[in-house]
Amino acid sequence: MAKFLVVSASGNPGSNSRRMARVAFELLGKAEPECEWIDLRELDLPVCDADKCYGMPGAQKLSTAIKAADGIIVAAPVYNYDVSASAKNMIELTGSAWEDKVVGFLCAAGGMSSYMSVMSYANSLMLDFRCVIIPRFVYATGSAFEGDAVKDAKIAERIEQVVAELVRFTNALRG
Ligand SMILES: Cc1cc2nc3c(=O)[nH]c(=O)nc-3n(C[C@H](O)[C@H](O)[C@H](O)COP(=O)(O)O)c2cc1C
Repeated sequence: MAKFLVVSASGNPGSNSRRMARVAFELLGKAEPECEWIDLRELDLPVCDADKCYGMPGAQKLSTAIKAADGIIVAAPVYNYDVSASAKNMIELTGSAWEDKVVGFLCAAGGMSSYMSVMSYANSLMLDFRCVIIPRFVYATGSAFEGDAVKDAKIAERIEQVVAELVRFTNALRG
């Protein structure tokens, strides 16, 4: 049976990408019994130094969770027209743990013009680790949220679609 993982990559306690990740995790949990949650904010991760970082407990826990999963949702902030350094650091710390995963993205941004920001990150997962990328992203700005809730019905529907596609692709490849 396929295993799933949702990773929240934002360090912000009031993160919108984490709000979407929670919705995705709840939906995934209803559809799939094997589903794990990781919040990078809780792992006390080192910055990748290509040396001692790999042996640190947070990096090892992250690597184990990624290795164990078949399908992964990455929920990340958009910073400086790219996904956040925390999301990039996650790949640097865990490298080959990503091999052959199916990956979907939920991105939170401040404005609409950074909507292609996830592409170089997606390319690196495809080209370095042969990940299959779900060709439908969620890209949401602050107006989609009210408190902890996703109030924009289109964004809520997109999250459902990304989750459904992640399950469909993952089960087709690994199920
Ligand atoms: C350092 C920094 C850089 C940012 N750069 C961008 C950007 O290039 N494009 C954009 O649309 N929003 C940008 N934003 C706004 C964030 O994407 C927005 O606050 C988003 O909600 C962050 O995700 P989070 O709420 O999950 O942490 C930036 C915010 C910060 C703090």
